[in-house]
Amino acid sequence: MQYEKLKPFPKNFLWGASTSAYQVEGAWDADGKGKSVIDMMDHPEGTAGFTVASDHYHRYKEDIRLFHELGLKAYRFSIAWTRIFPDGAGEVNEKGLALYEKLIDELLHYGIEPIVTLYHFDLPYALEEKGGWGNRETIDAFIKYACVLFDRLGKKVSYWLTINEQNTLILHPGAVGIPKGGKLPSKKDLYQQNHHMLVAQGKVMALCHEMCPHAQIGPALNMTSMYQATSKPEDAIAAHNWETIRGWSFLDLAIHGRYNRLLWSYLENRNWQPMVEEGDLVAIQKGNPDFIAINYYSTATIAESTGDASDVSPRAGDQQIMLGEPGVYRAEENPYVDKTKYGWVIDPVGLRLTLRKVYERYNLPIIITENGIGAPDELNEDGTIHDDYRIDFIKSHLEQIQWALTDGVEVLGYCPWAAIDVVSTHQGYGKRYGFIYVNRGELDILDLKRIRKDSFFWYKRVIESNGVDGLFHNY
Ligand code: BG6
Repeated sequence: MQYEKLKPFPKNFLWGASTSAYQVEGAWDADGKGKSVIDMMDHPEGTAGFTVASDHYHRYKEDIRLFHELGLKAYRFSIAWTRIFPDGAGEVNEKGLALYEKLIDELLHYGIEPIVTLYHFDLPYALEEKGGWGNRETIDAFIKYACVLFDRLGKKVSYWLTINEQNTLILHPGAVGIPKGGKLPSKKDLYQQNHHMLVAQGKVMALCHEMCPHAQIGPALNMTSMYQATSKPEDAIAAHNWETIRGWSFLDLAIHGRYNRLLWSYLENRNWQPMVEEGDLVAIQKGNPDFIAINYYSTATIAESTGDASDVSPRAGDQQIMLGEPGVYRAEENPYVDKTKYGWVIDPVGLRLTLRKVYERYNLPIIITENGIGAPDELNEDGTIHDDYRIDFIKSHLEQIQWALTDGVEVLGYCPWAAIDVVSTHQGYGKRYGFIYVNRGELDILDLKRIRKDSFFWYKRVIESNGVDGLFHNY
């Protein structure tokens, strides 16, 4: 659909940026913090681990000053569960909680809205040892943890996110890492974990509404659209299969509290269906999210499955690189799009499409909580970082958001990944995403100095003008 004029970004649009605790904070064992699954996992040889990360734990004041200079209206970050409950449950670690109290006060001092993720991949290792999300006790631990946060931070936070990318955790657990010497869980186990996370999420959302009536809460999933490789009807079925299994089924549960029928048939047929206890679905239904947060990076192109092992690509897959699944779909190349250095498809129009589909299906406002391009940015001798590819990436995605707004989609905010350089989930520090460069090497920590990239100055201009200046169509 084309329009004569695009709608402007809303006046109170949440221009933001994102990080997650374990990828930015460092100080992995400071002030009583317990170990998380992330602290206990193997890292690819020669890549940065998460012990120091970007040292935000010690430098958050300096970082927030820079976020203010950048003009951020919102900062999306996560709380490390192991700082609050070092063993996942038990006694509150006041020193850990103090960090987030101070961080939130600092943000509010500068008029930056905190958007807080309760759990971003870093499950306490003590809970993992007892079966992690496979054990229903983790549901209670998550509720207890959320209850402390709502009680102690609730007055100051208006936007909460429950679980970051539950679909990545279930469909691509290897991308997030597994504890040393561990094995990837079976699909049956993963779907049981998924069910427990949904019950926990439903209960926590209901608790938030009860304890913090002024606040809004929603799930944060990795959403995308699937293109069928050709006009062959069987390709369309395969694309629908994968779009449902990868995206809709998670949102159908989070929003409507019901198992998508196609997903359930897929699970039943393979004997992967979870055990659902009495009251679980009611608990999931009572969650009633206020908005949907989506992380969007890429799209995928899908063809009919041939039904044998050749469906599965020999490449290494991750949260964005689809591998194929016999009997479900086969991953194909898309000749119309470029890819990043790491093989992720660059598809801004796919963001407009995804926003339209999500909004049409659920009719809830949307916050984009991640979107960005990873690259090995270079620091020049004169102290500059020319990341034009990042400007182009974000610019083209913002333009498509404006198209989506014009299509009638309610988009509340945009928080690209990342506010500042962070450690990538599985590709170390060389794969940078931030508007702010952190002077450290893959293994060499250096001085961790913060340096503004070209994208910093460009994004500042976009925010200052509420999206009027700095986008393609305005040139
Ligand atoms: C998202 C995660 O899937 O992708 C982030 O929520 C992650 O934690 C981001 O960093 C980019 O992925 P990666 O693997 O390049 O760090």
